[in-house]
Amino acid sequence: MAAQKLLLLPGDGIGVEVLAEVRRIVAFIEQKGILSFEIDEDLVGGAAYDAHGVAITDAAMAKAKAADCILFGAVGGPKWDGVEYDQRPEAGLLRLRKELELFANLRPAICYPALADASALKRELVDGLDIVIVRELTGGVYFGSPKEITDLGNGQQRAVDTQVYETYEIERIAKVAFELARVRSGRVTSAEKRNVMKSGLLWNQVVTRTHGQGYEDVKLDHMLADALGMQLVRAPKQFDVIVTDNLFGDILSDVASMLTGSLGMLPSASLGAEDKTTGKRKALYEPVHGSAPDIAGKGLANPIAMIASLAMALKYSLGKPELADLLDKAIARTLDDGYRTGDIWTDGMSKVGTSEMGSAVLKKFETLVSA
Ligand code: IPM
Ligand code: MG
Repeated sequence: MAAQKLLLLPGDGIGVEVLAEVRRIVAFIEQKGILSFEIDEDLVGGAAYDAHGVAITDAAMAKAKAADCILFGAVGGPKWDGVEYDQRPEAGLLRLRKELELFANLRPAICYPALADASALKRELVDGLDIVIVRELTGGVYFGSPKEITDLGNGQQRAVDTQVYETYEIERIAKVAFELARVRSGRVTSAEKRNVMKSGLLWNQVVTRTHGQGYEDVKLDHMLADALGMQLVRAPKQFDVIVTDNLFGDILSDVASMLTGSLGMLPSASLGAEDKTTGKRKALYEPVHGSAPDIAGKGLANPIAMIASLAMALKYSLGKPELADLLDKAIARTLDDGYRTGDIWTDGMSKVGTSEMGSAVLKKFETLVSA
């Protein structure tokens, strides 16, 4: 069995704590002889800045490019607020996404029945919710140039960010969404702002055209991104797959996370194009939540989004979809048993910390794997 090259990038804040729980699950999988791993680790974000003065080193980038799969914690925190823009912690993550061409970001929002009461919405609106936001991740306003602040010389400054999309970028993310919809409920909603943005107009046209080129079996709807935000909190179960650009996807996925009870519940997979010869995709898995400086280092963080990100890695990179299902089931059963970190705690449930939650999920997983 060829060893899978795994790169761990815990990053900052709670990233370190939640990734520690995943390490234990990975060790169990290896010890069971299910997969063998070649595990490496490096710094990213503020931690890399403190050690090396950059948000990610070239050496870490080289490891990332060679890895079968990257597990990423979180980056950032007030400690690095004054750091030069190009080396702010987030720059490490953006460099990984861009240089590895991880253009397809899958962000599933599933509401576990046990958590329906922790959602900000009424139980009936979210119970059984199962949607995926497919966010374009290497284009748009995140990377467009110019991106600058210039001095106008009269005491005024001007800031410019550039929203830019080319046909191929829209086409390839639309295809990911259509293909994903085929193995789900067969519906895609594409969101943009064609009423005010040229990039929205092109997005709408290219998605429509791509749909007509062999994806007619999938039902496609278009919605303006602001209206979609409203519908997400009004009637979220109307959606199956949502495809949208980098910035709208960032915002809408944070909204979607609260439908599931907490930002601490949402995993994500960032995938590159399939390699023509090996059939493999470059891939990075990370929780949607950030480094949560307010609770970092206290053992309070919810590790579920990170553990569910490992489940996505098992499914999309490590060729073990059945094992991924068992890990998801272990999470659901742990929640059924009433284990809750502070972010998803409701009356009558047992409040636990990061490692207790990690242990509980691992225990359920061990039982399921051994059954
Ligand atoms: C996310 C995060 C990142 C983003 C930050 C940390 C750069 O919010 O992955 O959603 O804006 O993409
Ligand atoms: Mg975000």
